[in-house]
Amino acid sequence: MKFFIDTANLAEIREAYDMGILDGVTTNPSLMAKEGISGDANVRAHYKAICDIVDDKVSAEVISTDFDGMIKEGKDLAKIDDKIVVKIPMIKDGIKAIKYFHSEGIRTNCTLVFSAGQAILAAKAGATYLSPFIGRLDDISYDGLELIGQIVHIYGNYGFETEVLAASIRHTMHLVKCAEIGADVVTCPLKVITGLLKHPLTDSGLAQFLADHAKAASK
Ligand code: G3P
Repeated sequence: MKFFIDTANLAEIREAYDMGILDGVTTNPSLMAKEGISGDANVRAHYKAICDIVDDKVSAEVISTDFDGMIKEGKDLAKIDDKIVVKIPMIKDGIKAIKYFHSEGIRTNCTLVFSAGQAILAAKAGATYLSPFIGRLDDISYDGLELIGQIVHIYGNYGFETEVLAASIRHTMHLVKCAEIGADVVTCPLKVITGLLKHPLTDSGLAQFLADHAKAASK
């Protein structure tokens, strides 16, 4: 299972990378705006800065919503660094763009996926990654994890190569359940990754070990 971090914050990306468990980064226009990044040159420089931290797989999202615009923007993003994966929204022109980038050998991440039908279309077009949004489905009383299971099953039926990248992960149980279901990748905020560390028995057990060691050493 691959771990991506879902942020444009360089310090958080560095922290996750330094743990030695990070496989990639996903961003979106909202996450870039949250870091105060705007303007073409600044956006490109920020993507480059992210690429310089991690080994590979940095999703950079297009803003255009028409085919020609997505192709131009996606090509420009891909030129920033070989690590860039072009993130394309799940719309009709997006599917055409994914097909185009697939034929050009440029990796894509199909985003804003909320149904199995959309997942089938993206896989048919040759998306490298598919991003179903678990948390946003849960927010409106649909079962986001059920969708992950449905897509993993469908992709398995046909041997689709598109990787299921579970996104909009809000807490550690989302992540653990995705692992049980067999999602290829999870992308989540740093607090979800570090949340996996936490267990009260680990904390109390460690405190006890250290106390016993100190006691023995003082004898
Ligand atoms: O990057 C897309 C996705 O992970 C967004 O998550 O929490 O804004 O629904 P969220």
